[in-house]
Amino acid sequence: MANGNDLFDEEPADSATPEKPAKNKAAKSGPLGGVTRRRFLVGAGTAAAAGAAVGTGVTVGVNSFGGGGNEKAPATTTAANGVTYGVPEGQSIAQAVVLLNINGKDEFVSVMPHQSLAEVLRENLGMTGTKVGCDRSECGACTVLIDGIPHNSCSVLAIREEGKKILTVEGLAKGTTLSNVQQAFMDKMGYQCGFCTSGQMLQATALLQSNPNPDEAAIRHALSGNLCKCAGYPNIVAAVQAAAKAKTA
Ligand code: FES
Ligand code: FES
Repeated sequence: MANGNDLFDEEPADSATPEKPAKNKAAKSGPLGGVTRRRFLVGAGTAAAAGAAVGTGVTVGVNSFGGGGNEKAPATTTAANGVTYGVPEGQSIAQAVVLLNINGKDEFVSVMPHQSLAEVLRENLGMTGTKVGCDRSECGACTVLIDGIPHNSCSVLAIREEGKKILTVEGLAKGTTLSNVQQAFMDKMGYQCGFCTSGQMLQATALLQSNPNPDEAAIRHALSGNLCKCAGYPNIVAAVQAAAKAKTA
């Protein structure tokens, strides 16, 4: 079932020296070299610098914070590589550039501290396949996979997902070939209005990755956090069963 636990996964407080990128992190391949692992907070006035060059002589931040946009950052520090970290005295943290791997592609995204992942996907990146129903972790419409685990993206702060692999409904198909789950939802009419469908399909995709041959009870349990206002549950379950069959055939 989707959840938003990441909200409470605090990272260690900032240090002047950036930590090395972890193995297999998407950030490793980014253009920021050895300073890719942590968040890059841009002070007020440079808020629109999404994807801008961040290199020697450019002031960026490497601080974690609590959200809200008015936190005071520590004084700036210049590291050995010439990059100045921190936010200049008197400026507040208003914007950050984070590296997200979205559907297999690294993206530098300018986000505000309070923005949810769903909001960033839809409004910053124009990826409207992720739907927002309740916006408070109740309906599952906004489900995406983060490092393979379903999450309610309305309740995950985008800024905390630095370096994570995000899978959205736009990433399910390979080119023009639908995934087994997408095809099965089509074939079994596992949708009516379609508003919940992207979340249902992401949840089903995660289920079939961990349990390729679930019985009906397991399917209903896995999708219990994904509500369908159209009450299309019988067809949704049939679609997941068909996808499982196609996967194991
Ligand atoms: S759970 Fe995120 S929009 Fe409902
Ligand atoms: S198909 Fe309409 S809400 Fe599920």
